[in-house]
Amino acid sequence: MQITPQYRKTQHTPKINQPAFKGLMRLDPKTYAPLDSWFFRDYNTLKAAADEIKYTFPQGAEVLDYACSNGEETISLKSLLPDEKYKIIGYDTSESALKLARRGVYTVFSHWHDSFLLPEAYPNRAEQPLKTGFYRIMEETLPEPQDRLINNKKSYFNLKNRLPGFIESFFRITPDKKDEIDIRRGSIGNLDKYRSQTSKPLGAVFFRNALYQICGNDLNETLEQRKISRFSYDKKAIIEDFVDKLYSRLDRGGIFVIGDHIKDHLFLADKMTPDEETIYFKDTPFFNRLDDRHKKVPFIRLFKESPLKTALEKGNRFTPVGYSTTHLVAGGKKMTVPTIWKILK
Ligand SMILES: C[S@@+](CC[C@H](N)C(=O)[O-])C[C@H]1O[C@@H](n2cnc3c(N)ncnc32)[C@H](O)[C@@H]1O
Repeated sequence: MQITPQYRKTQHTPKINQPAFKGLMRLDPKTYAPLDSWFFRDYNTLKAAADEIKYTFPQGAEVLDYACSNGEETISLKSLLPDEKYKIIGYDTSESALKLARRGVYTVFSHWHDSFLLPEAYPNRAEQPLKTGFYRIMEETLPEPQDRLINNKKSYFNLKNRLPGFIESFFRITPDKKDEIDIRRGSIGNLDKYRSQTSKPLGAVFFRNALYQICGNDLNETLEQRKISRFSYDKKAIIEDFVDKLYSRLDRGGIFVIGDHIKDHLFLADKMTPDEETIYFKDTPFFNRLDDRHKKVPFIRLFKESPLKTALEKGNRFTPVGYSTTHLVAGGKKMTVPTIWKILK
């Protein structure tokens, strides 16, 4: 993200009465990295990406879904690309997330982003095809005792107790479709070593809402807890190395898809970032003078332009073809940001 007024402020209709609950709300017990995900997260991006893949690769393609977490993203993708000519492989590094993905049992709650999937919900016109696609792969199920531990207990009871008409349903992948959801252990850092499973082109790499975990971009935490990470990552070098690997592996016309989380777009400067490439938080459109969390840290240094955007655009290797909106947890202002990047070879 380039922090200039050219970033359009967008109109966004917030979901009604959204309680404070973040998807799965689970932390990896070893790394404490958040594993949160939910079905059809940032649907506009998912749909545009699936359409782009179908248009560019009518003969089929491989799709790598890195940072697939518990598999909800991989299932969402499969339901948007149901034809078996699209081979989707979900990868993650967290054993805890992979265990859930391999088990394939999920909860859907009322009053959440994916609550339109509940059997008794009335989806709007845009959501109806998603619900139909979802039920082609998933079915309602009764939970076994281990499935009751899928969610973080504190968040779960907080939500349940605050919402009088709270509904919770369990789903699983239908047994005849289980083989279509391919989940493996793997890091995006090894993307250059990926060997095709089929003779099809590598049409897409997803790495949504996870880049901050490989380069320590803990912006919201800094704002909310005034905590500045003790570790200093060279974000620019990490990201440039990653983009080189991506460029070497994706086939012509392929896409790279990132998340709509602010941490995929707005980056904290590190010790290595020269001053001329930085901007103070107080001088960005994200700064909210009325918010106490913001007022405490006006002089945090941020990258003027997202190092990911800079690396992708370097040498005209990628161009943005799809957008979403993002915002700071403590800010409220929504900005349009590129989430789908197409390779230009
Ligand atoms: C916040 S979750 C996002 C899940 C999903 N992509 C989404 O947007 O809903 C971040 C995930 O990234 C995974 N992750 C972190 N580093 C990774 C890496 N190097 N390669 C693959 N996955 C990674 C974590 O284990 C976690 O499951």
